[in-house]
Amino acid sequence: MPEEAVPAGDVSRRVGVEVIRARGVDVDKLIKMLVANAAAEFASTYYYYTILRMNLAGHEDYKEICEDARLEDRAHWELIVPRIYELGGSLPNDLRVFHDQAGCAAAKLPDPPTAANILTLLLESERCAIRSWSAICDMTFGKDPRTYDLAARILNEEIEHEAWFIELLAWERDKKSIPSGHFRRGEPGEAPYSKNRQLYNP
Ligand SMILES: [Fe+2]
Ligand SMILES: [Fe+2]
Repeated sequence: MPEEAVPAGDVSRRVGVEVIRARGVDVDKLIKMLVANAAAEFASTYYYYTILRMNLAGHEDYKEICEDARLEDRAHWELIVPRIYELGGSLPNDLRVFHDQAGCAAAKLPDPPTAANILTLLLESERCAIRSWSAICDMTFGKDPRTYDLAARILNEEIEHEAWFIELLAWERDKKSIPSGHFRRGEPGEAPYSKNRQLYNP
């Protein structure tokens, strides 16, 4: 058994890593993907969403929903970074290097910065996040329950974020109603899945 392969008191190896490797997880590849996803959460969504939200003047409802998505991406960052270290990985020791490893394009302010253009960008960022976290789920399903659980919690919220921005963009750009099922979070950035808070239930 792989657990027995680590001698008592040996701190140079991790049973928590060896068991998932024995089940077929390419741990080095998983760490790279997690760092890319963490960079996307931090740089693209949390950082750039701040700029996008600032430019949603006149749309307090859009600002609030953008803020929820922004803060929940910060929760995703907080949730996943410890897992990178548990797996024996680390974050690059240079913010510029880290930024450039992001698995999603930077969500820079569009030109012109109209609400419709900003919402389009937000929507496409969420779609990138859904694809990236789904790839982590696929890679870990049935093999690495801990990473799978964390990624699935994040994915739950990314799917909600996509639905929110579809609703807002369809209305803003086309005056079309495409409901997301959304009602406001209890508090800004509630993150019910990634912070293990109670789900919306009046
Ligand atoms: Fe996120
Ligand atoms: Fe998101």
